[in-house]
Amino acid sequence: MGDISVGILGTGKYVPERKLTNQDLERMVDTNDNWIVTMTGIRERRIADAAQASSDLAYEASLRALASAGLTAEDIDLIIVATITPDMFFPSTACLLQDRLGAKRAAAFDLSAACSGFIYGLATATSFVKTGMYRRILVVGAETLSRITDYTDRNTCILFGDGAGAVVVGEVPEGRGFKSFELGADGSGGDLLRICGGGSRLPSTEESVASKKHFLEMNGRDVFKFAVRVMGTAAEEALAKAGLAKSDIDLLIPHQANIRIIQSALERLELSADKAMVNIDRYGNMSAASIPVALAEAVEEGRVKEGDAVVLVGFGGGLTWGASVLVW
Ligand code: UT7
Repeated sequence: MGDISVGILGTGKYVPERKLTNQDLERMVDTNDNWIVTMTGIRERRIADAAQASSDLAYEASLRALASAGLTAEDIDLIIVATITPDMFFPSTACLLQDRLGAKRAAAFDLSAACSGFIYGLATATSFVKTGMYRRILVVGAETLSRITDYTDRNTCILFGDGAGAVVVGEVPEGRGFKSFELGADGSGGDLLRICGGGSRLPSTEESVASKKHFLEMNGRDVFKFAVRVMGTAAEEALAKAGLAKSDIDLLIPHQANIRIIQSALERLELSADKAMVNIDRYGNMSAASIPVALAEAVEEGRVKEGDAVVLVGFGGGLTWGASVLVW
């Protein structure tokens, strides 16, 4: 993958303070803690304050990522925000973030690949740095999924939470950094996980809102089957491209959608449970923010050491998937 080694210069995360527990959900819909924990592994999620939008979560995570990289906002050449819950249609959340950070030199755009968005963003950033077009790129996954969740639908409302994770991508010493990316899409499965209202196909009207078209809808069972298949194949492809074997993996950082999906990926990759970074119990599924938050926590907890082979893998709406091998 090109001449310069490109990797991660700093990581940061932010999650809102307010917790929504399984016990809280028991009072909102016909569900129970035991079902949620057994079927998903989730115990609680974070919910943004009414005044907080995705760019506010992104801002806090970005400040921390910049500090951990030892850089200022003016060192950043490009900002990529992966999100399915932008503050508004436009301007992009990346532009709102650029202004808030004072990243005056940076170009900025949002990237839409749902839960795979952060890995798509890393691949994009790495390519820009390798071509020499940009040196330092802020890649953020930020979501306020609570705003697109129907809290009367027990099939979905138990799953999602709010949060943001950010990294700075740039040149790293030879031998380290991203070794491979594997990205994919299958638009034929787009209707399995989507928000169909509010866009140019079905603009918001009183009727569209009354029939809840502005909320996320999901065929959980089919998404589950897709996820189990694609997490394994995407990770295996990324490993093959990097010339590594399953047994070389030091840490797996999977998208946090369901503990059973993570367990099946571990099985497929022949890894023991301690090889996966798991925080789904505390945050639920934060879509594009799940992987960068898990990565930031792995760094905070000292779970990644220099030279470790880290595999990032995710899947999501689109349908999309992505995996990467990163030598820390
Ligand atoms: O980032 C990507 C986003 N999405 C995902 O990753 C979702 C992937 N899918 C899943 O994680 C799983 O499909 C779920 C956890 C959402 C659901 O698990 P499932 O094994 O697919 O269950 P199901 O939807 O087939 O439902 C099984 C039963 C049903 O009852 P009956 O018909 O068997 O009587 C549901 O009505 O569980 C019932 N159920 C619930 N019960 C208590 C569904 N939701 C709940 C609930 N509490 N919250």
